[in-house]
Amino acid sequence: MQAKYIYLPVIDSTNNELKRRAEEAVEEFTVISAGQQTGGRGRSGHVWKSPSHDSVSTSMILYPKASVEHVSRLTLIAAMAVAAMAEELYGLSAEIKWPNDVLVHKKKVCGILTEMIPKDGEVGYVIVGIGVNVHQTGFPEDIAAMATSLDLELDGRKASRQAVTESIWTNFLRLYKEFMLTEDLSGILEEYNARLVNVGQEVRILDPLGEYTAISQGIDATGALLVKTGSGEIKRVDSGEVSVRGIYGYV
Ligand code: BTN
Repeated sequence: MQAKYIYLPVIDSTNNELKRRAEEAVEEFTVISAGQQTGGRGRSGHVWKSPSHDSVSTSMILYPKASVEHVSRLTLIAAMAVAAMAEELYGLSAEIKWPNDVLVHKKKVCGILTEMIPKDGEVGYVIVGIGVNVHQTGFPEDIAAMATSLDLELDGRKASRQAVTESIWTNFLRLYKEFMLTEDLSGILEEYNARLVNVGQEVRILDPLGEYTAISQGIDATGALLVKTGSGEIKRVDSGEVSVRGIYGYV
């Protein structure tokens, strides 16, 4: 497994560009990174803004021989890879807010969009897209309290977009290799839980069927968050419909 890097100064979206190239059978582990995205996409149909050279916008294509329902676990692996990068390159202690927000000093530093394209009822290919805030010196008012960039956390040092990109994908492939042995997170569970915020603390589960408060216990090998309710029952919380908040706000 070896990443193959392609850099484009401007593109609509690195996920879109890999999808176009997938039509021509682009090699597995190809990475497309862009200086600027003019049509970056976020989760739930949101727009992801990366109009300047301040961020890393990078995507990798995979052809995993894995079941369709296991592919969402790759997003958790991508979050681990970003957290490992921040620590390895810059000594920042990065945490994960389940399932896939990477936090530095309790603020979000990256976004991840994993897309699976099915073929004949199986996984055709998967694109893992990662956007990291690198050189931004401030954020719009509505997200300023919960967003940060690597430079803002580095006290005058400047992060390198190339080093960030390479470290993320090197870590991702290390973790992906483990994942493909079992198609679950059993081999990397300890590393994930060690980075998880709020373990042993109260969290608010925003379940559309009814919100409740419980104590976070960490994730299991499927990537679900285990929580202990007031009655002592252990519940599995699956990502998707449900999100989790600390009881004092975003984290
Ligand atoms: C989120 O909503 O938090 C996910 C944002 C994902 C953004 C990245 S940037 C690289 C890749 N290309 C895209 O269009 N989106 C992802």
